[in-house]
Amino acid sequence: MISKEIIEEIKARADILDVVSDYVNLKKAGSNFRGFSPFNNEKTPSFFVVPSKGFFKDFSSGKAGDSISFLMEMEGMSYMEAIRQLGQKYGITIEEEEPTEEELLAKNERDSLYIVMKFAAQWYQDHLWKQEEGQAIGLTYFHERGFSDETIRAFDLGYSPDLWDGLIQEAKAKSYNVELLEKAGLVVRKDEAKVYDRFRGRVMFPIHSLTGRVIAFGARMLSKPSAPGFDQPKYINSPETDIYHKSHVLYGIYQAKQAIRQEDNAFLVEGYTDVISMYQAGIQNVVASSGTSLTHEQIKLISRYTKNITVLFDGDAAGIKASVRGIDMILEGGLNVKAVVLPEGEDPDSYARKLGGTAFTKYVKEHQQDFIRFKIALFQGEAQQDPIKKAGIIRDIVTSISKIPDPIQRQVYLKESGDLLNMDESILLTELNKIHLQQHRSAQKKTAFEETYAAEEEEEVFSEYEPAEEPSKGKIYYREKEITRLLLLYGQLEVEENFKVFHYIFKELEDLTIQTDIYQQIHQLYRQKSEAGQAVTEATLAEAGIPEITQEVIDLVVEHYVLSDNWELKYNIYVPRETSILHQVIERSILELKFAYLEKLIQENRQKLLEAADTESQMKVLEAHHVLKNSQMEIARYLGIVVS
Ligand code: GTP
Ligand code: MN
Repeated sequence: MISKEIIEEIKARADILDVVSDYVNLKKAGSNFRGFSPFNNEKTPSFFVVPSKGFFKDFSSGKAGDSISFLMEMEGMSYMEAIRQLGQKYGITIEEEEPTEEELLAKNERDSLYIVMKFAAQWYQDHLWKQEEGQAIGLTYFHERGFSDETIRAFDLGYSPDLWDGLIQEAKAKSYNVELLEKAGLVVRKDEAKVYDRFRGRVMFPIHSLTGRVIAFGARMLSKPSAPGFDQPKYINSPETDIYHKSHVLYGIYQAKQAIRQEDNAFLVEGYTDVISMYQAGIQNVVASSGTSLTHEQIKLISRYTKNITVLFDGDAAGIKASVRGIDMILEGGLNVKAVVLPEGEDPDSYARKLGGTAFTKYVKEHQQDFIRFKIALFQGEAQQDPIKKAGIIRDIVTSISKIPDPIQRQVYLKESGDLLNMDESILLTELNKIHLQQHRSAQKKTAFEETYAAEEEEEVFSEYEPAEEPSKGKIYYREKEITRLLLLYGQLEVEENFKVFHYIFKELEDLTIQTDIYQQIHQLYRQKSEAGQAVTEATLAEAGIPEITQEVIDLVVEHYVLSDNWELKYNIYVPRETSILHQVIERSILELKFAYLEKLIQENRQKLLEAADTESQMKVLEAHHVLKNSQMEIARYLGIVVS
């Protein structure tokens, strides 16, 4: 528990330049600083720090934020962890608010669990490497599976000797009490008097936390025939404990997190050995759900490092169907998902060993599908002739699409499904609307608390589209700034095939002239580059080498992040971004701009009226006035504004 005041003090002291400089070599560029992105390998530096706003913006990954979010991204820390780290850096004593007796006890208990798990992991490793039984059985087994010593060490693999109380005896000798072993799930209590080691005669796979502490074990039996009636499970896992919550953990995340960030993609597999073999083949951005079905927490964990997940499926249909639900959950989390089906009889472990990293990666590249193609292929065989089954597929796919938070993406996928299923898009859209309506109805059964929350949220979101106007600058300036911001952020999103948001904006502004010089320049550059066939992004413009444009682009996008980050910190919940009502936002912004232009024209026209020399020219001016005023009224009606 850190007090609010201390958090505020730390935030005030944490200088963005200082914090980022610990990781990135920055050079001054105008009033900003520039360097190579720490999140990506890049050849031209596209990472900016804006000291005046306390923000960073990385064009290569799109990430942006303040010094706290920078640390969270860099170190995979939680908000509180970042605050603590900054407190240390600036020598701000963090007086934790007096913890209660219970909190203290719980913390001490968790700390002792970590310690005893570390002890056990070390003991299993010692047995693997140094004891005869472990070497002969465990190490040989790993070698036979093709794991190198280096790999075995990278995952801290071990061996539990085939004894009832090996660990217990060692723990006693080292004065760990048995109750603690029990709380850590390392031993099993039969009755008052009798406890025994949980893991016996198995190879050990420690499960690490994000920061590399051992929090649990998976333990595999060795392939020896078990006596009839004594069928042992292939894997035994640690039970849930105070430090191990299965649904929050991904096997391999500690070893993979860096690579996931670098590759901007995570492979999701099922088993321990899948992770290890792929890692050894040089594909290190891989984690496993460890046999359980994927959870929202696990997806959230991955999304700290990337928004792209590639799910690898073993080559048997039954297994695939059991785990497709995971795909919908990933979509729901707002992440992009691809699926790869391995050849029949192969799992990632066997196939990575068979092909090696390069060929495996090539296979993945050639066989990865988006979820629509994947689902269609999955059911295709059965559904070809059967219309009822086909209806089932359609519903299944549209349900997946309905989970995607971003409407533009939804639209793109809907179109793709229509093409692939050879169906009219409008039928799919009707189906989608039905599903949304159902969801809406069930969402209405919310608690009063949630409702107030949602209402507040909406207000916040809308406030972004109406930037407070400084009186010193004209309306036109702000309207032009807003449409330019939308152009930069969303220009490349597809409205429909071959028609992107930027096409729409340019078409709407065709007959108009942007008044503010810098926005005029940005629009022009955008147009030029798009006409040359380039997909223009914020980064393209920022790197065109025109300092004023770079500065403006940074200001525009950073401002956007300042706003949205605030909502997230304030509510600490998912906030629907403006993308979810993008169409309205852009349309409104264009109308507001036109409205402002008209206002200016009307004013100029009034001036002419005063200056008109004769009745004839007065009539002309008056006529023009009516035309302008009518157009303005029409727009006003759309916008719901009252004009005088
Ligand atoms: P190998 O058979 O050694 O290649 O292991 P694997 O990791 O490939 O296992 P498999 O593909 O059969 O299962 C995937 C994951 O499910 C494993 O890594 C375990 O996490 C889990 N799992 C498999 N079998 C069992 C079991 O019998 N009990 C439990 N609790 N989990 C299991
Ligand atoms: Mn396997």
